[in-house]
Amino acid sequence: MAVERTLVILKPDAVQRGLTGEIMGRLERRGLKLVGLDMRTIPRDLAARHYAEHEGKPFYAGLIEYITSGPVVLMVLEGPQAVAVTRATMGKTNPVEAVSGTIRGDLGLMTGRNLIHGSDAPASAVREIALFFGDREPQSWERSVDPWILE
Ligand code: RTP
Ligand code: MG
Repeated sequence: MAVERTLVILKPDAVQRGLTGEIMGRLERRGLKLVGLDMRTIPRDLAARHYAEHEGKPFYAGLIEYITSGPVVLMVLEGPQAVAVTRATMGKTNPVEAVSGTIRGDLGLMTGRNLIHGSDAPASAVREIALFFGDREPQSWERSVDPWILE
């Protein structure tokens, strides 16, 4: 099974609500391995590049306001099918439709305050990790419990 990396952004509402530890803990407990971590406020030009696919949509202006409105926590996670696993752990974009047990289904109420971003495909993950971490090489480390998580 392909080992992938994915980019996660704990959005400004997650930081403001004090939910970063809760959300990071869920992703860590799932078995995903943390290989990159940073906290910063995303500048508008970077937000526009990250969400370029949504330019022109009715929610675009609000989305850029939201994602640049305060500090975020950026994570790079690694594991087998990390992109799909992270998306499943997040739940659907609209928290009303996200099932209980998912991050958005347990902690959110509205699409415009849905707490977390996760790359939507392996190719997006490569692009987004380069966008936010540039030439900073993700941390390479041996995890001693791996034989109990990965077959
Ligand atoms: P994300 O990119 O943030 O991980 O979210 P996603 O893949 O689940 O959803 P996507 O369609 O890529 O939308 C990006 C973000 O834009 C906001 N949005 N608002 N009001 C609306 O109709 C609407 N639709 C999308 C959400 O914050 C969504 O996560
Ligand atoms: Mg998306």
